[in-house]
Amino acid sequence: MNHETVAFAQMKDATQTDYDLLSRNLQPYLEETAQRVLETLQRQATERESGHQIHRLDHALQCATRARAEGADTDWIAAALLHDIGDGLAPMNHDRFAAEILRPFLREEVTWVVAHHGAFQLVYSGEFTGRDPSTREQFSELPYYQSCVDFCERWDQRSFDPGYANDPLDSFRDEINTIFARTPFDPGHLCAGEVVGLPSPQTA
Ligand SMILES: [Fe+2]
Ligand SMILES: [Fe+2]
Repeated sequence: MNHETVAFAQMKDATQTDYDLLSRNLQPYLEETAQRVLETLQRQATERESGHQIHRLDHALQCATRARAEGADTDWIAAALLHDIGDGLAPMNHDRFAAEILRPFLREEVTWVVAHHGAFQLVYSGEFTGRDPSTREQFSELPYYQSCVDFCERWDQRSFDPGYANDPLDSFRDEINTIFARTPFDPGHLCAGEVVGLPSPQTA
């Protein structure tokens, strides 16, 4: 355990030596991001029930299992698993919260879908919750629109099924470790502007 600390109590008094120490400590902390994310997700199994037939962790696992079963790539599987991780800390904008966790590491298309899935899901729930079911139509001319429609229809909205046999959280550890080990904001994995889409239904 490293107990070495900086000397300053206010940032304006810091020195290069202090920042060298902080930099050395930052890298191992960043490398534990995947583990912290998985622990946060695990807690969704113990949060107070929402009234759904399954708890939030099982919803996430069900989404990710469907994505995996359809042959989706690592980015989609990670997004399916983590798209609602903001539920507890940002219940009014949980989609944007999750997207900001993922943005440095996932394809731009996938981050966009996570950021907007809440609006797109209103097509299913808006009629009953006083929200506009057609909210997503404001995005209909944008390149990632269809991917978000498909994400919601094929994975998110159908993953509240108590009879579905999802894969366990541990089985997704490799995908989560892989994405958080990427170089943040590397254009090579951000693939800005590229539309990949969900796997075609024929391969699903
Ligand atoms: Fe959501
Ligand atoms: Fe969801």
